[in-house]
Amino acid sequence: MIDLQLTDKKHDEERQGEALIVDAPLVRNGRKLYIESYGCQMNFADSEIVASILLDQGFETTGDYKEADVVFINTCSIRENAEQRVRNRLSQFGVEKRRNPKLIVGVLGCMAERLKSKFLEEEKLVDVVVGPDAYRELPQLLSEVESGHKAINVLLSREETYADISPVRLNGNGITAFISIMRGCDNMCSFCVVPFTRGRERSRDPHSIMAEAQDLFDRGYKEVTLLGQNVDSYKWKGSDADDSAEIEVNFAQLLEKVALISPELRIRFSTSHPKDITDEVLYTIAKYDNICNYIHLPVQSGSSRVLELMNRTYTREWYINRIDAIRNIIPDCAISSDIIAGFCTETEEEHQETLSIMDYVKYDFAFTFSYSERPGTLAARKFEDDVPEDVKKRRLSEILIKQQETSLYRLQQFVGKTVRILVEGTSKKSDKDFCGRNDQNAMVVFPATAGVSAGQYVYVHIDRCTSATLLGTVVVEEPEIV
Ligand code: SAH
Ligand code: SF4
Ligand code: F3S
Repeated sequence: MIDLQLTDKKHDEERQGEALIVDAPLVRNGRKLYIESYGCQMNFADSEIVASILLDQGFETTGDYKEADVVFINTCSIRENAEQRVRNRLSQFGVEKRRNPKLIVGVLGCMAERLKSKFLEEEKLVDVVVGPDAYRELPQLLSEVESGHKAINVLLSREETYADISPVRLNGNGITAFISIMRGCDNMCSFCVVPFTRGRERSRDPHSIMAEAQDLFDRGYKEVTLLGQNVDSYKWKGSDADDSAEIEVNFAQLLEKVALISPELRIRFSTSHPKDITDEVLYTIAKYDNICNYIHLPVQSGSSRVLELMNRTYTREWYINRIDAIRNIIPDCAISSDIIAGFCTETEEEHQETLSIMDYVKYDFAFTFSYSERPGTLAARKFEDDVPEDVKKRRLSEILIKQQETSLYRLQQFVGKTVRILVEGTSKKSDKDFCGRNDQNAMVVFPATAGVSAGQYVYVHIDRCTSATLLGTVVVEEPEIV
């Protein structure tokens, strides 16, 4: 039987409640920081910047908020339930604060940006509110709090990319890491709060991106994921590293530069936008073996009318054309999606169009959500959130069932074949098993094998699969040079 989740499927972009711990700083100030992150990978990457800034101030990190002097919660506003989770967590921190009045509680990230000073009014226990572009100010803001004031900085910036701050890698596996290549978003999808919480789009200097990737590789990392809300609109203009000639770098060129660091370093990226993904990007992926054949290309809806209301600026036909281009240029490319059920005025026929585009693409994976109205967005101002909750749930469940079928179909295509995977470590379910992902981002689990360890590329013969995982056995160890 299919285990049906009627609520929103847990999104990678909604990992939650993870505390971050790192090595102690060189010079200690005797104080401990606890930082917990919610939301998308970009938020998790930002927490690593925050930790880096506070480590420079002598803070140590702790995995137990009860022994912390400063507790930060890096928040997400994407859907109402994401915000609710943060509020629940804050009330737990409130209990601790009553026990230890000296504890400083800070709210960072997208909710801080959305609610601004309202946060200080609504949640009395909060001492400091800091938006995503103001993390450099954290030391000063903490001093203000120590001198008895509440502190806030939610200024958005057109330039800040934290390019010069080397993030400390928190709770990582030492094998895979995220690199932010841009910040903000200039699209105005009508349902989305991100342009309001993250500000204008800006691209990070490619030299600092390359340096970060090279440094990770030198430290034994084998996979980097380049992050941005819309990576295809990455564009950087500036002077070259060696001479001062003006250069322009687009996303395809950036991908190529990072791929050339080493064939042993795998490259992934997220998120691609259907209106912006170019054939040049597709040819670059096809050209380099170490750029993974996997594209996250959120469709949101299969109906052109709904897409227009969503202000996605593409039609169903345009999206299908992009899928055809991917299939032609990178025949074995995995494709995943984000899908919203029950957007304002969505009819039953339009919902069927979403199901039929899913049939057409046969996504390897999809993150699925019911529409959640976000205050201040275009949709909240212009359209009525008129699809009843039970209808949204039913449509979402139909989308989920379809996705489970196609995920299974896609994974079945690997059964009987041998795939190359990067070993990430022991499997979550059993320490007798190892896990890792193949090029197409499918999770592969196999019995721990002598001579195989995390960070190696190995070949695994796929014996069987579930709708989420491939199961197999190691057949050939990685040759010296791949
Ligand atoms: N930049 C990415 C998406 C970032 S948000 C892109 O453009 O694809 C991740 C996903 O959350 C979105 O793709 C969308 O499917 C979902 N989402 C965003 N706002 C939402 C809302 N108000 N209600 C439900 N889902 C939403
Ligand atoms: Fe939101 Fe659209 Fe920007 Fe994605 S592209 S972050 S959905 S506004
Ligand atoms: Fe959430 Fe902000 Fe990311 S709203 S999804 S944490 S950009």
